[in-house]
Amino acid sequence: MNSDTLQGISAPAPASVVPFRSSGSEWWRSAVIYQIYPRSFADGMGDDGLGDLIGITERMPALVELGVDAIWLSPFYTSPQKDAGYDVADYCDVDPIFGTLADFDALQARAHELGLKLIVDLVPNHSSDQHAWFQAALVSPAGSPERDRYMFSEGTGTDGELPPNNWESVFGGPAWSRLTNADGTAGQWYLHLFDPSQPDLNWQNPWVREKFRDILRFWLDRGVDGFRVDVAHGLIKAAGLPDYTPPADGGSMGGSGSLGLEPEIGAHAGTEPSTPPYWAQDGVHEIYRDWHSVLEEYEGDRVLCAEAWVEPLTTLARWVRPDEMHQAFNFSYLETPWSGPTMRAVINSSLTAFTGVGAPSTWVLSNHDVVRHASRLALTAENPQGHGIGPRSPGQPERALGLRRARAATTLMLALPGSAYVYQGEELGLPEVIDLPDDARQDPTWFRTNGERYGRDGCRVPLPWEADSPSYGFGDSGKSWLPQPADWAPYARDCQRGVVGSTLELYRALLAERAAADLGLGDIEWLTGYPDAVVAFRNGSVTVIANTGAAAVALPAGEIIVASEAFDTRLLPGDTSVWIRS
Ligand code: GLC
Repeated sequence: MNSDTLQGISAPAPASVVPFRSSGSEWWRSAVIYQIYPRSFADGMGDDGLGDLIGITERMPALVELGVDAIWLSPFYTSPQKDAGYDVADYCDVDPIFGTLADFDALQARAHELGLKLIVDLVPNHSSDQHAWFQAALVSPAGSPERDRYMFSEGTGTDGELPPNNWESVFGGPAWSRLTNADGTAGQWYLHLFDPSQPDLNWQNPWVREKFRDILRFWLDRGVDGFRVDVAHGLIKAAGLPDYTPPADGGSMGGSGSLGLEPEIGAHAGTEPSTPPYWAQDGVHEIYRDWHSVLEEYEGDRVLCAEAWVEPLTTLARWVRPDEMHQAFNFSYLETPWSGPTMRAVINSSLTAFTGVGAPSTWVLSNHDVVRHASRLALTAENPQGHGIGPRSPGQPERALGLRRARAATTLMLALPGSAYVYQGEELGLPEVIDLPDDARQDPTWFRTNGERYGRDGCRVPLPWEADSPSYGFGDSGKSWLPQPADWAPYARDCQRGVVGSTLELYRALLAERAAADLGLGDIEWLTGYPDAVVAFRNGSVTVIANTGAAAVALPAGEIIVASEAFDTRLLPGDTSVWIRS
């Protein structure tokens, strides 16, 4: 971006100076963490159209060039892949489709050599039904210690023919399945908050707790820098497993739908959302205190990051109290619409809530479970988290508008103090793939709802690396486990590398300036005097102005160091964000 000194317009006076800086200087407080979804990053073994660990190791220099600090690897463990690896059959081994433990060691060594931290995914709420623990439970009688490792229960009704309660699976349909005994008679029911192939573990059982301490140590001994903890709000279920009917507008993973803001701003003004008996139970916290103490046994700053769809933010902050996890994904931020007042409110609420417990806020706009933000921000109707979008979805996004807003939203996000997560492909501006052929879809959500919900395949399509290679350079076989759109060549990394104005170069500039100005460890100071649609603040030496509206806005004086779009007046156009050196 060419620099430009603006004259005649004075910077608005600071309105509020809130001490938002989190205490401490551990790497994870300010890190930009890049999520790799191994199936879709790079097919290094080049045989099957599925990404793998060798592919990640080979392509890792691209992440150094991008400028991120750490990698989070989604699951690569032994798994029948019923939920793309979030159904783990062996927590301490690598699935052959992804490689071997030696490939993992090589990947980790390469990351550390390149100065990148490495976080792996831990999936404690449920295992695969193919896990040896569940297989042992199946051949053991009701009431046995093997069954007590999972959530088995007798049915209700006259003959146990009805499930123990009315809970629904996140992927659709009932959350209980019934076993058939060896003699052909109907047996007990087991709980699966997700797919039937993902039975929930019984976290009241000390045996389960002990096994997971061992799993943590297995990976910590190998040298990982931490864990992203899957469904970290689900491990403990309310005593008596009471019936529960979620609000129609609630997220499938929990959360009130109120964006985590203060009650008067949220959609559920004045009401306290009830806590589902399977999410956010108090009992989860002692588990995370225990894990915190396991991580403390190790050298270096190891991190636990919670995937907890919990609102409001003041409640989520309980996951990151000083002796629990270190970070929690800020899904309230992810779910916030592109509008000045709601963006300001969620940023303020996040910083207040997390600073209140001495933790950094995190920021995230995309991941492997949600509609990519380059499409989501242009949707004209709300599409619930996890349901995905497809050709029949309401509010079809306009591609150019979505990308423009995504670039502006990322420019705002990467200026915020705390830790930011970037999902593979967003640095290329990838849109959600809306028109995947139905017979290519693989998300269990699609099958469990008989095609009513599209699910998450549209954000998981393998990455384009080279415009002119088969499968856009994803792998030598030219195959791709989900079909890549025919018009993706312009998104390929090699088409964007070194090209001024490309999304890749925008991300590189943002990450370089963020590091140079140490924005991740900064503080923000709100600036006033702008229209409501504008989010304006100062973080150290950088003034950030994000225009979520349509009307252009006069900029304060100073050198523009990064802009989400090129413009040649001194007015900031709509759906554009800038960083100005003050
Ligand atoms: C988490 C994962 C998601 C998975 C679910 C069940 O939400 O991010 O991909 O399907 O947990 O493990």
